[in-house]
Amino acid sequence: MMDRGLPEEEVLGLIQEMRDKDFRYDRLFSTMCTIPHPIAIRAHDIFVETNLGDPGLFPGVAEVEYRVVRMLGEMLGCPDAVGYVSTGGTESNIQAIRSARNASAIRDGNIVVPESAHFSFDKIGDLLRLEVRKARLDRNLKVDLGSVEELVDDRTVAMVGIAGSTEFGQVDPLPGLAEIALDRGCRLHVDAAFGGFVLPFLKADWRWDFRVEGVTTITVDPHKMGMSTIPAGGLLFRSLQDMKTLETETHYLTVAKQASLTGTRSGAAAAATYAVMMHMGMDGYRKLVGQCMDLTRRLVARAREIGVEPVIEPVLNVVALKVDDPAGVRAALMERDWHVSTTRSPRALRMIIMPHITAENIDLLIRDLDQVLRSAGAGA
Ligand SMILES: Cc1ncc(COP(=O)(O)O)c(C=O)c1O
Repeated sequence: MMDRGLPEEEVLGLIQEMRDKDFRYDRLFSTMCTIPHPIAIRAHDIFVETNLGDPGLFPGVAEVEYRVVRMLGEMLGCPDAVGYVSTGGTESNIQAIRSARNASAIRDGNIVVPESAHFSFDKIGDLLRLEVRKARLDRNLKVDLGSVEELVDDRTVAMVGIAGSTEFGQVDPLPGLAEIALDRGCRLHVDAAFGGFVLPFLKADWRWDFRVEGVTTITVDPHKMGMSTIPAGGLLFRSLQDMKTLETETHYLTVAKQASLTGTRSGAAAAATYAVMMHMGMDGYRKLVGQCMDLTRRLVARAREIGVEPVIEPVLNVVALKVDDPAGVRAALMERDWHVSTTRSPRALRMIIMPHITAENIDLLIRDLDQVLRSAGAGA
C-alpha cells in the first residue's frame, strides 16, 4: 500500500480500468451466473454493511434471512425447512455433507456421488477426509441406480443426487435414490445449486425436492438462476436436528451458537435474494425460465441446421453440442469473443442459456460456430 492515499476520482479511474478488462455478460455462454435483477442490486446496497454472523446486532437482516429460507422451503416442497444463506453451492455442499457425517457415528466414511457431481465434492472429500465414490451414469447421463447400490455400504455417510448437473443440466432419478437411502438408513443430499431455481418453474413436474421422502438436505443457489447478487447460496435441511449437528459455540458474539461455515456473513446477498424473490414471485420466475427454455430450444434447432447434434435433449437451459475437438472449437470461438466451455465425458461444447443471453446472440454464435467448423473441416 502507498504511504499516502490517492484522491477518490483517481482511484475510481483505476478501478474502472480493471473493470473494463472483464468480459461482457451478453457474450458469455459459459457461466451459471448472470446480471442480477436491478432490485437485488438496490437491496444489496441498502444492506451492504450488515453481518449475518452476529444477528443480535443486525436483527433486521436476520429476519430477512429467515424469510428467504422460508420462501426457499416453500418453493422446494417443505415450508418448515430450516437453513441459511451461504456463499454458494460449494459451501452448501460442504455443510450438507458435514452435517450428514456429524449425524452418523461413522468416522473414515465415504460418500456416494454421481460421476457428474460438481468438483466441490472432491474438495469435500479432502476437507472432511471422506472417500468420494463416484457412481456410473447411464446413457442419458443420469446416475445409474445399480452402480449406486453397489457403492453404498455401512460406512456411507451420505448419498448425493444432482438436480441440474453442471455440465449437462441433467436431473438424477431422485425417487430411486431416495428409496436406496431409506433402505440403507443413509442421508440423501440433493445438489440443486443450478436446477433449484429452474425445475420448480418448468411445466413438467420433476420429482426431486423435499416432496420426495428421504431427501434430507438441498443446495439451491440464488446467485445462479435466482437473479440475486454474488455471494448468495442456499442450504436447506428438512430437520432442525441435522442443522444443529453443525453448531459451534461462539463465546464473543450476540448468539451462543453458529451453524454456518463462515463467521462473518454478507447480509447484503441475503437482502438481494429476498428482494428479487418477493418482486419476481413464482410467476416472474416461470416467465424467466420459460424464456430461457425457449432460447435453449432455439439454440438446439439452429445447431441442427448446421448439422450439429446435442449430447442429450436439454432438460434445463444447458446445452452440450457434439463437435470434434471441443477445446479447439472453444478457443476459435474465444477469438471471436464468444465464451463457451467444454464437458469432460463425453467431451462436448457446453453452453448455458442464462437470462442475459439473447436470440440474436444465439444466431450469431451459431453462425460463427458454423464458420469455425467449416474452416476446421477445410484444414483437416
Ligand atoms: C451443480 C452445482 N453444484 C455446485 C456448484 C458450486 O457452486 P459455487 O460456484 O456457487 O460454489 C455448481 C457451480 O456451478 C454447480 O453447478
